[in-house]
Amino acid sequence: MARDFTKVGVIGLGTMGAGIVEVFARNGIDVVAVEVDDDAVERGREHLTNSTGRAVARGKLSEEDQATLVSRVQFTSEMAALKDCQLVIEAVPEKLELKKEIFAKLDAIVAEDAILATNTSSLPVTEIAVATSNPKRVVGMHFFNPAPVMQFVEVIKTVVTADDIFERVKGLAERLGKRPVVVGDKAGFIANALLFGYLNHAVSMYESKYATREDIDAAMKLGCGYPMGPLALMDLIGLDTAYEILDTMYKQGRDRLHAPSPIIKQMVSAGLRGRKTGRGFYTYAAPGSSQVV
Ligand code: 3HC
Repeated sequence: MARDFTKVGVIGLGTMGAGIVEVFARNGIDVVAVEVDDDAVERGREHLTNSTGRAVARGKLSEEDQATLVSRVQFTSEMAALKDCQLVIEAVPEKLELKKEIFAKLDAIVAEDAILATNTSSLPVTEIAVATSNPKRVVGMHFFNPAPVMQFVEVIKTVVTADDIFERVKGLAERLGKRPVVVGDKAGFIANALLFGYLNHAVSMYESKYATREDIDAAMKLGCGYPMGPLALMDLIGLDTAYEILDTMYKQGRDRLHAPSPIIKQMVSAGLRGRKTGRGFYTYAAPGSSQVV
């Protein structure tokens, strides 16, 4: 039997989308990487070049392998370029209407047997699926940030997802070196449902001036052995993304834990969206940098 998934598409080349492109390309899969316009396409290309460039600088990837990896990716602003992809994964901002619109378009572009996946972290996959003519082929495929590093993928199965579809997506995640789990369509799935109450609590502790950002982060990093503190992690995830996730979970579950701390929205409005804009709870050397100044 021919190898499943030789060419996949990714729509949206923000932090998650660009990371997902890298994961596929690193694993020998051809990728069509789509963004809305030429500037956004260039930002996506830069993200991949910088990320793989860091691996070259650290001696983890040869320049030749980097060139091969990058050459597997076709960057474009034309969704029609996705027509031969066996799977397309959408990673645009967490706006339900936008996602539904994209899925309706995709439905008419890809082959009948192609799989459509969303990387949504909290929106209802079922509602996205029913925007297509064949909801059976729609799943969630939720990666974690940074996608090239984190070894976990949630595969979200709706009440109508066909069994063979999520089994194939699970197999793909394993091929990418990830540990997949299959979960139902509930806001936050497993990891975000557990994580975001904690992150929100840390933000409200900071907002009430109960403790400094450094002390809150040190408590969890040094006291509890987490790889990074909650406020540094908010900056990595992006405050805009974190806000959308909390808001969706709060609207769905009405758990006070998920009512977004007011400062998150204020920081987003002020452009302090975290690492991607160079400033969030911490200030970074440049947009996209992990170096705190
Ligand atoms: N892209 C690609 N690779 C990256 C990367 C990035 N953005 N950031 C770090 N890496 C790689 C480094 O190149 C390095 O690779 P190497 O071991 O092959 O040299 C490795 O990761 C470790 O990086 P560093 O040595 O620079 O730094 P750390 O050891 O401090 O690790 C970290 C950085 C992996 C981000 C670690 O701090 C961590 O695991 N943090 C927690 C991340 C987390 O919780 N993610 C989940 C967020 S929730 C989510 O994504 C859900 C979504 O819906 C919002």
